[in-house]
Amino acid sequence: MARKKIALIGAGQIGGTLAHLAGLKELGDVVLFDIAEGIPQGKGLDIAESAPVDGFDAGYKGTQSYEDIKGADVIIVTAGVPRKPGMSRDDLIGINLKVMKSVGEGIKQYAPKAFVICITNPLDAMVWALQKFSGLKPNMICGMAGVLDSARFRHFLADEFKVSVKDVSAFVLGGHGDDMVPLVRYSGVAGIPLPDLVKMKWTTQERLDAIVERTRKGGGEIVNLLKTGSAFYAPAASAIAMAESYLKDQKRVLPAAAALKGQYGVKDMFVGVPVVIGAKGVERVVKIRLNGAEKEMLAKSVASVQGLIDACKSIDASLA
Ligand code: APR
Repeated sequence: MARKKIALIGAGQIGGTLAHLAGLKELGDVVLFDIAEGIPQGKGLDIAESAPVDGFDAGYKGTQSYEDIKGADVIIVTAGVPRKPGMSRDDLIGINLKVMKSVGEGIKQYAPKAFVICITNPLDAMVWALQKFSGLKPNMICGMAGVLDSARFRHFLADEFKVSVKDVSAFVLGGHGDDMVPLVRYSGVAGIPLPDLVKMKWTTQERLDAIVERTRKGGGEIVNLLKTGSAFYAPAASAIAMAESYLKDQKRVLPAAAALKGQYGVKDMFVGVPVVIGAKGVERVVKIRLNGAEKEMLAKSVASVQGLIDACKSIDASLA
């Protein structure tokens, strides 16, 4: 059986980490595309030279030509600019929308059947625009945010409870912004929901509220520490989990920014919801029951995403 092909559009901090992880997990051969000459070639060669040490087989090719993504099974998009301290994800919209247009055209021409995972921010609006520019089927494109936001939530919870991260599950819904919706009722330790853990005095409501808030601002916390860019290890790990679920038909249930056709009362938008990812792409959107307060939080998050989509439409008339 021929190896799978993974194309990475953008070979910056996240792109390089994705390339390394894809090799370590032997997901397939990797093509790194970037407009910066030498960067994808250099990173590809460097990682290929680590393969004999770590003992994995994967081909690496760096390129400035979209033709090289031809036949890709999975494409992960990180092309664009990350934020710096003081910036919100939304401040990136002008530059990154133009980048999505060129990436979308490249995908349309050379890999229209690929499963595409977008990471570029502001995520929910960029994945929406990328679907329009590329013409991909809506089930074959999604955005990576929920796995990352949930992983941050899980890390903070495991730290609070002094238990293994493996036994902590968490769901974060909504847009990838500060009004995302960490779902406390559906998160917990080994099947015990967080509200019960508060009753069991594993933590207090105040401490749990602070963890929820830290999760919402998790990306900004890293930006403020790094000062030169944004998070890349956890975002890359999260997208690799999604790619692996597609490539191996694992049918994992993961939160992702998916095209909604009326689910959760949302249409023609990509918003973070639980989905099943398997060989057919986003195979199912999981509809969970939300209470009044959760519905309200989701509506607020959806309204923020709608605002970003409206901004995209006013910047690029072809999207209107
Ligand atoms: N086509 C291809 N690559 C591009 C383009 C383009 N039109 N424009 C920029 N790039 C490349 C840059 O040359 C750079 O190598 O995208 C890469 C982005 O890498 P970084 O600046 O290191 O950013 P990174 O931390 O990887 O984040 C990428 O993901 O999480 C989001 O907010 C983040 O939008 C940002 C994206």
